Amino acid sequence: MIEARSISKFISVVNENGLAGGLTAVLNVSISIPDGKIVSIIGPSGCGKSTFLEILAGLQAPTEGEIRIDGKLVLEPLPSTRKEMEDYKRRYRFISPLANGVFTDHPKHDIAMIFQDYAVFPWMTAINNIVFALRLRVAGIKRRERPTHKEMLEKASYYLAKVGLSGSEYKYPSQLSGGMRQRLALARALSVEPKIILMDEPFAAVDALSREKLQDDLLRLWAETKENATPIIIILITHDVQEAVYLSDEVVVFSPSPGSIRNRIPVDIERPRARTDPAIIEIQERIFAMLQYDINQENEYSI
Ligand SMILES: Nc1ncnc2c1ncn2[C@@H]1O[C@H](COP(=O)(O)OP(=O)(O)OP(=O)(O)O)[C@@H](O)[C@H]1O
Ligand SMILES: [Mg+2]
Repeated sequence: MIEARSISKFISVVNENGLAGGLTAVLNVSISIPDGKIVSIIGPSGCGKSTFLEILAGLQAPTEGEIRIDGKLVLEPLPSTRKEMEDYKRRYRFISPLANGVFTDHPKHDIAMIFQDYAVFPWMTAINNIVFALRLRVAGIKRRERPTHKEMLEKASYYLAKVGLSGSEYKYPSQLSGGMRQRLALARALSVEPKIILMDEPFAAVDALSREKLQDDLLRLWAETKENATPIIIILITHDVQEAVYLSDEVVVFSPSPGSIRNRIPVDIERPRARTDPAIIEIQERIFAMLQYDINQENEYSI
């Protein structure tokens, strides 16, 4: 269960005259997401979606509010003194894989994040991309209790096979197609067996057909975790309304900047779903109308 309570993020910026200013990237977002759900976030460009996702992942601290995962605090607003910072580090639970290296005494393994542009390391083979992620996750574990290199290779191969990349283990990302790279990113996210996968426009760079295939793969892999003790939560940012409705249990529509939740649209349609199901299309049209309204409003203001 993810709970975001009154999350706001203010960012200081320096304007062209060299004066300090500020902007509100996220304003007062509260949402609870139960285990095993897929939730999409959709909204105009620059409205704060990525910022919100990074706050969920613990990659950025919010300015106000708090995130809890299974009741445990992720990150609170940063403290202002060094003394408070020491307490802060001890208190919160840092879940970002990037920060695990900084806070090795608090290794956490709950979240995997797939970024749009930097999904995989181009200088590592497919299999090493995954082994690298696995290594990061065991950094805080005693050496004797860590899995061996061979075990990690086996696990990496297992997850590559799951996403249909058997045979590409020793290829570099440049030798893979865009869709295959996204599959690799997905395999890497799954390999650390996270409770939550956060995806920032994961399929933006692939053609429509591959995209549909990737969506179905994602649904299949997610459905497999339904048998686990804690089925995974997937949160995904997309600009594609059809993708959002087809995949999700709920679509969260963000308002234009500063990002706040404008609407939450449940998609109570059983899976497997048909893309042409009139009930799905009806929901898509409602969301389109909402986004269109926001764009028209913005244009009126700027005239
Ligand atoms: N580090 C930063 N410094 C200054 N401004 C920032 C920073 N990070 C984000 N912003 C600003 O915060 C706002 C929200 O950015 P964010 O990347 O979260 O938007 P987004 O909804 O993900 O947009 P897109 O759909 O285009 O990816 C934007 O106005 C952006 O310029
Ligand atoms: Mg973004």
